Amino acid sequence: MQVPKNFLWGGAIAAHQAEGAYNVDGKGLSVADVMTAAGNFDERRITDGVKTGEFYPNHEGVDFYHQYPGDVKLFAEMGFKCFRTSIAWSRIFPQGDEDEPNEAGLKFYDRLFDECHKYNIEPVVTLSHFEMPYHLVTEYGGFRSRKVLDAFVKFAKVVIDRYQHKVKYWLTFNEINNQTNYDRAFTLFTNSGVQVHEGENAEAVMYQAAHYEVVASAQVVAFAHQLNPDLLVGAMVAFSPVYPATDKPDDVLKAQRAMQARFWFSDVQVEGRYPSWLRKYQAAKKFDLDITDEDLASLKKGRVDYLGFSYYMSFATAAKPDEDDYYSYNEAKDLVTNKFVPQSDWGWQVDPKGLRYALNWMNDRYHLPLFIVENGIGAIDQMEANHQVHDNYRIKYLRDHIKQMELAINDDGVDVMGYTPWSAIDIVSASTGQLSKRYGFIYVDRNDDGSGSLKRYRKDSFYWYQKVISTHGEDLGDDSDDTTR
Ligand code: BG6
Repeated sequence: MQVPKNFLWGGAIAAHQAEGAYNVDGKGLSVADVMTAAGNFDERRITDGVKTGEFYPNHEGVDFYHQYPGDVKLFAEMGFKCFRTSIAWSRIFPQGDEDEPNEAGLKFYDRLFDECHKYNIEPVVTLSHFEMPYHLVTEYGGFRSRKVLDAFVKFAKVVIDRYQHKVKYWLTFNEINNQTNYDRAFTLFTNSGVQVHEGENAEAVMYQAAHYEVVASAQVVAFAHQLNPDLLVGAMVAFSPVYPATDKPDDVLKAQRAMQARFWFSDVQVEGRYPSWLRKYQAAKKFDLDITDEDLASLKKGRVDYLGFSYYMSFATAAKPDEDDYYSYNEAKDLVTNKFVPQSDWGWQVDPKGLRYALNWMNDRYHLPLFIVENGIGAIDQMEANHQVHDNYRIKYLRDHIKQMELAINDDGVDVMGYTPWSAIDIVSASTGQLSKRYGFIYVDRNDDGSGSLKRYRKDSFYWYQKVISTHGEDLGDDSDDTTR
């Protein structure tokens, strides 16, 4: 089984998790710079600005800001055709609402993209990946405010204009649908820079912020198309399919509503209009939302060219005995464990077949090229005395998912543009701030407390992925030497 010859094999990271250099060359604070580190099953704390005595792992990241030439060289050695990263908004507009961009920040990405092209690696760039300028939070409440919609569009126009001849593939908001889990402070903060106050309806706040984001996304798509028809702009959702826990019709309806609630974002970004159930639902719940006719017209004019998505796991849900007629979905409360799939050390439900399901579901619904821009497993790696890392569990995870992707391409006819596993190199975990939750093909000597030499080492998965790419996905290795965790 192979993939098309022009398939975009690569790897992914995000600026705030890798770059570090949080206050270098004029960069302002971002939302990621005020989040502490946590452990396997607890949440990162969001502090009120940067506090003395707290540890903020994103401040140093893995020093990609300075070490990118060596890292890109290693990506090239693996055979990457593309490399997905994001532009830290706060490098370009340190506060977010300045008139003029920061030239030193712009120059950094010129250097990075040039370095990629040196090896014929195509950059795939996310405009907003959990790194909004923190000033936009304190001054405007993040995407609660239309001013932040405008600030984002301004930032996006500056960078798309600047890099249009270096970057062809763009994505607007990373995992825009994470905030479906509106009761979790982390997701609203990282997606939208929003903090919910006592007594507020978090779901309504989420729908308002997300509305401004889909409008911003549409305006950016329209701008890019007008500027340069060669550019392709995608949406990006976290695709965790929500299965019904049983064949009970109530569970099926609950799961259907869960899918609608998680994927209305991409419905809007792909189709240019709200799905009918959602406006009915918002009206019934009496959410007082600022959605104007101009906004709805903008949505129509800025439909994305492809759909990017992350795939890590699947979810399952069951109806409650007292469900309302809307089967209202609250992700923090409504998920159940799926006993048919194993879990990672961090409790993520590992389900390779869910990737084939995801690809078919999106293909049927959206009829657009699909791009798997994240897929991987966070695991604790052991560095052996001779600097080897035998990460067979990672190879197994990726192999099992690639097989399902290849079935979707070859047997189901799904149009998949590329595959960029998370992560190209070890970086700071977004949800926990740990370095020990490792995803990379390249081991970085850094510990959870920030100690370590920051040296890079190739893991076993590095050589395995190199072979996968060089054989167009034909040689995935042998299952027999895998160890399961
Ligand atoms: C996705 C994000 O949610 O999953 C990444 O887009 C993140 O930023 C990745 O790192 C893995 O999640 P985590 O929390 O284990 O780092």
